[in-house]
Amino acid sequence: FNDKPLKGQHWLITAGPTVEPIDPVRYLANRSSGKMGFAIAEAAARAGAEVTLVTGPVNLTVSGSIKRIDVQTAQQMFEAVQSQFKGVDTFVACAAVSDYRPKVAAQQKLKKQSDDGLTIELTQNPDILRWAAEQNTAFCVGFAAETNNIEEYAEAKMTKKGINVICANDVSRKDIGFSSDNNEVSVYYKKDGALQVQQLGPALKSVIAHQLVNFLPGIK
Ligand code: C5P
Repeated sequence: FNDKPLKGQHWLITAGPTVEPIDPVRYLANRSSGKMGFAIAEAAARAGAEVTLVTGPVNLTVSGSIKRIDVQTAQQMFEAVQSQFKGVDTFVACAAVSDYRPKVAAQQKLKKQSDDGLTIELTQNPDILRWAAEQNTAFCVGFAAETNNIEEYAEAKMTKKGINVICANDVSRKDIGFSSDNNEVSVYYKKDGALQVQQLGPALKSVIAHQLVNFLPGIK
């Protein structure tokens, strides 16, 4: 019986949302509590891994053994991941990264000008997970929040990003996902070129995290 199966491994995990400033008081963000990513970090640390957690703004704490790096924007998350990537065995991208950011963040608070509406020009953020997969040095796991055609999108995303595993959850369901403590995840991966799926949960995010951390090394 081995209670530290990940001893000697280095896991890098992203969690939470990224927030992209529009002006000093407003931002663009994704919905994410960070709970799933934090649960995975805790589970990997308990299994003996050295864990680095890069997180956007969330109301969560972690155990002392986890190296936590707090960031705000996708660009900052990307830089933190790049700086921590060397020697990483497994990268788990759990963060809800904003795909776009305002092209310019206004230095001063935007004032209401007329009833004509307001246009904010957006520019694309880097895809952190795709960059990680391109390095070809770590086992890369992504998350997908979908509302329909989950299997189809999951497989397409795996191919497009060049990653090993995609964990999909159905965010159209009210009882799981987002700020809930519970989740149900379909873990998609390829074996001999064929798509495989492993169902985890429904269960507490802490339980899913534990199951995932135990499952992943077996398909590496
Ligand atoms: O492309 P999409 O956002 O649907 O993919 C989700 C997965 O990609 C998640 O694992 C998320 O953490 C990761 N991602 C990323 N950088 C981005 C966008 C998404 O790492 N800019």
